[in-house]
Amino acid sequence: MFDALRPAIKGIISQEEKSAEERMQAICDLLKETVPHYDWVGFYFRDGEKEQLKLGAYAGAPTDHTIIPFGKGICGQVAVSNQNFVVPDVSAQDNYIACSLTVKSEIVVPLFVDGKNIGQIDIDSNVPDPFTKEDERFLEFINQEVANIL
Ligand code: SME
Repeated sequence: MFDALRPAIKGIISQEEKSAEERMQAICDLLKETVPHYDWVGFYFRDGEKEQLKLGAYAGAPTDHTIIPFGKGICGQVAVSNQNFVVPDVSAQDNYIACSLTVKSEIVVPLFVDGKNIGQIDIDSNVPDPFTKEDERFLEFINQEVANIL
């Protein structure tokens, strides 16, 4: 599935007539539509010089958490750790921000531009423990592609 999606991601990235925001929105829509265990897909970016994240493009239910302080929740922890964070069971996490009661698991992968962690892709799933190394490699690939248009 991910191998088939990589060319589609590259196709979206190459649409230079569209803004980066529009291309990230298209990626969110594609992922949510085509990957069965991706129920919410979004990008967060550092909010200027502030120690907080701001929600960018997303697909799925609207969230109240459009601003997340560094260190808070899974997203805020990735902003400071620079590491992928795979959460098989969100109920086992103390430092977690619930967006929807249907969410069982989450994966957050940092997005680097020139070696700097400037944001992340965040996926919520209604399925328990669905994420594998394949998801990590695929989401790293997406972030590398997006980094080229930022
Ligand atoms: N669950 C995230 C908050 C963002 S929502 O999933 C959209 C967290 O704990 O950081």
